Amino acid sequence: MFVASTYGKKEIFSITDPDLVIFHANELVTMNTRYGAPRIGNSMSKLATINDGALAIKADRIIFIGSTEELMSKYEFGKIPTKIDATHKLVIPGLIDPHTHIIFDGTREDELSMKLKGMTYLDILNEGGGILKTVQETRKAPLEKLVKNGKDILDRMMNYGTTTVETKSGYGLTTESEIKQLEAIRILNEEHPLDLIPTFLGAHAIPPEFKNKPDKYVELIVTEMIPKIAKEGLAEFCDVFCEKGIFSIKQTRKILKTAIRYGLRPQIHIDEIVDTNGALLASEIRAIQTGHLLKSNEDGLKAMAEAGVIATLLPGTPFCLMLDDYAPARKMIEFEIPIALATDLNPNCWTESMQMIIALACYHMKLTPAEALTASTINAACAIQKQDEIGSLEIGKKADLIVFDVPNYYFLPYHFGVNLVSKVIKNGKIVVDND
Ligand code: NIG
Ligand code: FE
Repeated sequence: MFVASTYGKKEIFSITDPDLVIFHANELVTMNTRYGAPRIGNSMSKLATINDGALAIKADRIIFIGSTEELMSKYEFGKIPTKIDATHKLVIPGLIDPHTHIIFDGTREDELSMKLKGMTYLDILNEGGGILKTVQETRKAPLEKLVKNGKDILDRMMNYGTTTVETKSGYGLTTESEIKQLEAIRILNEEHPLDLIPTFLGAHAIPPEFKNKPDKYVELIVTEMIPKIAKEGLAEFCDVFCEKGIFSIKQTRKILKTAIRYGLRPQIHIDEIVDTNGALLASEIRAIQTGHLLKSNEDGLKAMAEAGVIATLLPGTPFCLMLDDYAPARKMIEFEIPIALATDLNPNCWTESMQMIIALACYHMKLTPAEALTASTINAACAIQKQDEIGSLEIGKKADLIVFDVPNYYFLPYHFGVNLVSKVIKNGKIVVDND
């Protein structure tokens, strides 16, 4: 809300004098959403950029965006408390990581040698490793330990330019320990500068106690876990690991239909290892987003495009599993499926860096730098249903943005494997300053 003073030559905006401005950005990428979100097809490549860009922030909101010249004529520069000179630098919206599993205890570095010997993800899981090993450790961990582990991860994510994170339960697999994980997410959301979007993933694996009676575990999820978690307001989304030998299409449908009735929004891990027709199910139940999709068939993908289901691609996972195949991103763009990118951070695939994911997306899935940036900002915001607040730099939106020590966005995948972040601004505050 601008209130122009009638005094003086300049328009002086008394109640909207900025707290912080960024000026002289070599390239400011706004990703503005005027032509609708999420972006599909060619529109994934159309970034709105401003050279010699500037931006002004009041409290936690963006109040101005334009050229440095416009900024200088609009405000009394000398009076602005914090000024960031972004000469030679890139400014973009805060990166959004819309699919992660950050709440766990214990590590799985030993699995690398198993993978090197040729064991697959499911081989390791069937031998009691993988998810089930992390479940054992996470069940034993006190809430405070899970919060501490999560905080360390969020600190690293923030240092690498992520400002909003979706994260899941799924390493408890009992009502009590699933709630413990969601409680850890709730505490972190209150205590950490980053914003967290909580997802219930009780259907992540069949727990050992239900090994020979998986339907009984599904019953527990739908009759006890979902009602309780929904009632306590501990999750916004419900996710399922729908995969051959894990949760079937029928079980996934049952869980997600129940979740929808209880007001949780549906998302699914689909077709990661085997094509189980997960993409078709995702379109049938109108999942907001789906993860993995390495093996999805064309009919399923076309149905997803039709239903507007977002494909959240997780190239860190095939990278860590040393697979030759990545999700068919180019085909998805051709089919006009909205694509988002995420780290999938979990004890099998441990990276906090969306910069790394952008590089993998370009080098292994042939996304262009512009498409990868769209997928990590505005489309990622859509994947967690927060596109009205974040994902682009627009007046009125949250002031979540990153200053990178590079001249343009092509550098994000080009200069890979190092942290290019100069400053992170979250909710209008400088939370990382590497200069
Ligand atoms: O998305 N595939 C299922 N779940 C996670 C991995 C969890 C784990 O291995 O601990 C994923 O990759
Ligand atoms: Fe995942």
